[in-house]
Amino acid sequence: PQTHSALSVVETTEPSDRDGEAQVDEEINPEDLEVFQPTDVWQSLRPGQAVPVGSHVRLNLQTGEREVKLGEEARLRYWHSGQRKGMLNTEAPQFSAQELKEALKKFKEEEPTHKTREKEEAAVRARYRPLEELKRDMEELNMMVETDFQVMSRLVKQFNRSEATLDERVAALLDLEYLVHQVDNAQDLVAMGGLRLVIDSLNSSEPLLQENSAFVLGSALSSNPRVQVEAVEGGALQKLLLLLATDRPLPLKKKALFAVACLLRHFPFAQRHFLQLGGLQVLGELFRTPGGGAMRVRVVTLLYDMIVEKELISQAGLDVVPDASHQERLRQYSQVSLLPLLEEQGWCGLVPELLASPEHDWREKALRTLLAMMPHCQDLYRQDRSLARSLSALQEQYQELAEGERGLGDEDGYFGEILTLLDTVLGRVR
Ligand SMILES: *[C@@H]1O[C@H](CO)[C@@H](O)[C@H](O)[C@H]1NC(C)=O
Ligand SMILES: *[C@@H]1O[C@H](CO)[C@@H](O)[C@H](O)[C@H]1NC(C)=O
Repeated sequence: PQTHSALSVVETTEPSDRDGEAQVDEEINPEDLEVFQPTDVWQSLRPGQAVPVGSHVRLNLQTGEREVKLGEEARLRYWHSGQRKGMLNTEAPQFSAQELKEALKKFKEEEPTHKTREKEEAAVRARYRPLEELKRDMEELNMMVETDFQVMSRLVKQFNRSEATLDERVAALLDLEYLVHQVDNAQDLVAMGGLRLVIDSLNSSEPLLQENSAFVLGSALSSNPRVQVEAVEGGALQKLLLLLATDRPLPLKKKALFAVACLLRHFPFAQRHFLQLGGLQVLGELFRTPGGGAMRVRVVTLLYDMIVEKELISQAGLDVVPDASHQERLRQYSQVSLLPLLEEQGWCGLVPELLASPEHDWREKALRTLLAMMPHCQDLYRQDRSLARSLSALQEQYQELAEGERGLGDEDGYFGEILTLLDTVLGRVR
């Protein structure tokens, strides 16, 4: 007769179940089959009852009855031993897809708890490290927390070392540049002899060293009167002007001009010195160099700042109670005779060249400088037909632009501001 069995019982690996179980191979008449729905507790099966595939069935040797319960949890055993882990099917030789999915889910859940435990153990070990080890780490930590002064001393040494490579020197300069933005640090650099080295390296034969030295110098000078005085006394201005007056790579010239601008700012003594050394001629040459668009605007900005600075000092004299230092500053600025020199050296004609630039902010800078120079250039401008024409063309252009701006709801927009400047300049030159 044909045998058919829904019961497939294999010997379990669980020792506790071992005694109650044996291989069973029932002979059942398929017609008689009545399917029993197992639960999660063991229940006796009557002869002829079938169970769904995957149910857990055992033979109770005491009663001789077959018992059944739901398979899943009971049949699947998860285990791990050290790093290894796995799953056993205690009943069937193969896993169903559903079982594998369940197993994977379990493994995923377990994964992090393992790692977490290892981390916790490491943390505990770390907390109770040998004292010697701890002390050594603390010392290393202390060494790493250098003060800015220590860092700068190290960088100055690194820069000054006779066998230092170009790369090492440039790296030291760039790190110094970062530090000297702080007023105290820049003054410390002077005190430790670092500023002297930086100024000396302005006439190194290596353009990269010159460029980065000018960069450090400019940053150290910014808003730092004590460093400004040191630099002028150290001859920095001559060296910087020499770099600007001779044939040098553009990046070097940019940094040199930056340093000059920082040196002159709010320092009438240096400004007078600058004029005496022929600084205006040097800037004029720079401005006239073909292809130097960005350089031109920087030059004009420097001049504009100098004009306005003096102007502001003089105006302040009208409404504040003048104290001694104010009188002294007025006296010093009165010795900076910039505007007559600008006129004399042709700047009235040079600055309007910037108006031809396509950049709005370059034109704006040119217009502001024209206004600042107006007292000395007005006669010339009134006779200059081509200047009036280009100003009128710009006026038309900015009327349109400003209108577009207002159309977008921007009442005091940038183009409107430029238009106002244009109107003012045109009013003075007509
Ligand atoms: C740089 O090196 C020279 C020669 O080794 C030394 O005389 C000088 O003091 C050093 N300067 C600084 C600021 O360390
Ligand atoms: C740097 O140039 C100046 C002139 O500007 C010169 O007097 C000085 O000797 C030069 N220094 C070095 C180290 O070459």
